[in-house]
Parts: sequence; C-alpha cells; structure tokens
Amino acid sequence: MTGEELYERAAKAAEHAYAPYSEYSVGAAVLTRDGHVFEGVNVENAAYPLGVCAEKTAIAKAVSEGYKPGDLEAIGITASPCGGCRQWLWEFRLDTVTFRNSDGAVVTRTPAELLPDAWDLPA
Ligand code: THU
Repeated sequence: MTGEELYERAAKAAEHAYAPYSEYSVGAAVLTRDGHVFEGVNVENAAYPLGVCAEKTAIAKAVSEGYKPGDLEAIGITASPCGGCRQWLWEFRLDTVTFRNSDGAVVTRTPAELLPDAWDLPA
C-alpha cells in the first residue's frame, strides 16, 4: 500500500472525526508491517486539552491489538502532525509519514525529518 493510498484511507476515516469545537476533522491510517490498517480520528472534548489527535488514536488502536514500536510501517494523516504526535511517530519508529502540509501538498517524510534531535530516554 502506498503513502497516497494510506492518505486516501485517512481522508475517508476523517468523516468519523468528533470535532465539534474546532470543526477541524482529521483522519489517520496506519499500516502495520504485516499488512493491517488501523484508522483513527481526532476526538475532542468540552474540556479542550483532553482532546486526542487522529494519529494518536490510530497508533493506540494498533497498540491495543498487540503491535509494538517497530511494527508500524507507514501512516497517512490528513493534517501536518502536531509536535506531540511527532514524538509518537518517532517512538513507534515508522518508516514514512504521508500528510497534507500547510501548502496543500501531500508529502512523505521520515519521523527523524519531522522531529530532529528527538527525545529518547537515556539508556
Ligand atoms: N489534530 C490532529 O488530529 N492531529 C494533528 O496532528 C494536528 C491537530 C486535531 C486536534 C484538534 O482536534 C484539531 O485537529 C484542531 O487542532
């Protein structure tokens, strides 16, 4: 499955977003190395900081089905990932992240490109 195809899955998933406060729907679709796809959406809350981003939802769904860092190959996201989500993408060691950037272009980056000098717990 290509990054573009994952992006299209993410765009379809965004129809299920719960975003009544920002009215900004986001979808994500993460591909596991063994070929499964988990979709996620942003889920907002009246206590605004408690909302969760689409890519975190998708990754959390994969993790709750047994997938670990290193098991996730690629993700498509309909928005440029926020700073906190970039740390999640780094943690799970995805190969590629395909998303629509602020110029409207669908681009593919690595987590390291999105988050240079990322934080890891010292060994
Ligand atoms: N949002 C995401 O779902 N992913 C991101 O990486 C960027 C922001 C959501 C959070 C909030 O529900 C809405 O977009 C507006 O910020």
